[in-house]
Amino acid sequence: MNIHVASRPARSRPENAHDAFAADVIAGLTRQPKQLPPKYFYDETGSRLFEEITRLPEYYPTRTELGMLRDHGQEIARIMPPDAALIEFGAGATTKVRLLLAQCRIGAYVPVDISGAFLNGQATALRADFPDLAVHPVVADFTAPFNLPRAVQNLPKVGFFPGSTIGNFEPQEASAFLRGAREILGTGSTLIVGVDLEKDEHVLRAAYNDAAGITAKFNLNLLERINHELDGHFELSTFTHRAIYNRERHRIEMHLISRKAQTVRVMERSIAFRAGESIHTESSYKYSVERFQALARDAGWTPRETWIDPDGLFSVQALLAKE
Ligand code: AVJ
Repeated sequence: MNIHVASRPARSRPENAHDAFAADVIAGLTRQPKQLPPKYFYDETGSRLFEEITRLPEYYPTRTELGMLRDHGQEIARIMPPDAALIEFGAGATTKVRLLLAQCRIGAYVPVDISGAFLNGQATALRADFPDLAVHPVVADFTAPFNLPRAVQNLPKVGFFPGSTIGNFEPQEASAFLRGAREILGTGSTLIVGVDLEKDEHVLRAAYNDAAGITAKFNLNLLERINHELDGHFELSTFTHRAIYNRERHRIEMHLISRKAQTVRVMERSIAFRAGESIHTESSYKYSVERFQALARDAGWTPRETWIDPDGLFSVQALLAKE
């Protein structure tokens, strides 16, 4: 009798979140210049600090976008096919989608998020508040292809990507995301995206250098997270938060600057820092309406309608996937 033992699949990518975090941290800290991906800001403490950021007087994006979804909900409803499936990429606290659900006739809601536990909690809360709404959560990394639930495959589709999360992508990544979303949603679908706009540099710099120092804590928490989860030995008092506006590249950059020359142990490696050396932790791209629309067109989307607040701070853009 032959016994077949399945061979292990080649281990090309890390199997779990912890290994992926470890691999990204080592890769980011051993390259020149050093950098870390902003998606790792959002552990429990980081998510709580981000919620605090959204309530800061200097941080305009969240309250501006919420105001627009509230005030223009009827106009947004008008461009949505009735009983469409609303697919949200990276479902957060559902505060924003609730504004649409309250004002639009939506057939089904599909929140897509990498965190299953968080997603199921949100889905339960939504089902309680919108008893007639079909909620079909999908646990997936929305930057890679995923399948829509069978129950919504025959409904018209509207994608929702609020919060200017798209601003965290490099332009070529944003383009790839838009292409991928078109692939998933299909011809004839609509995509509603929140996009932060280019504006006076003072306003931008203040939004990422708040007087209360919450953004600094949010940035430094990434080192705290590495200490806790990856056996890092960062001394937080030896790094400072810096946020600058890179005008040529239309982006806010957040950095953590080493106050002195030092060596930091992380997962049994020694990472050397020069005095004043930076870890680039986030880019937050700002677009003009024209530049964003050019990016969208290039990715197969046709601009349908754009809403901008009276102060010209933030935009909500509806795109159409034509044949
Ligand atoms: C959640 C990516 C939209 O770029 O403004 C806030 C994150 N970073 N303050 C942004 C963030 C610093 C935020 N996004």
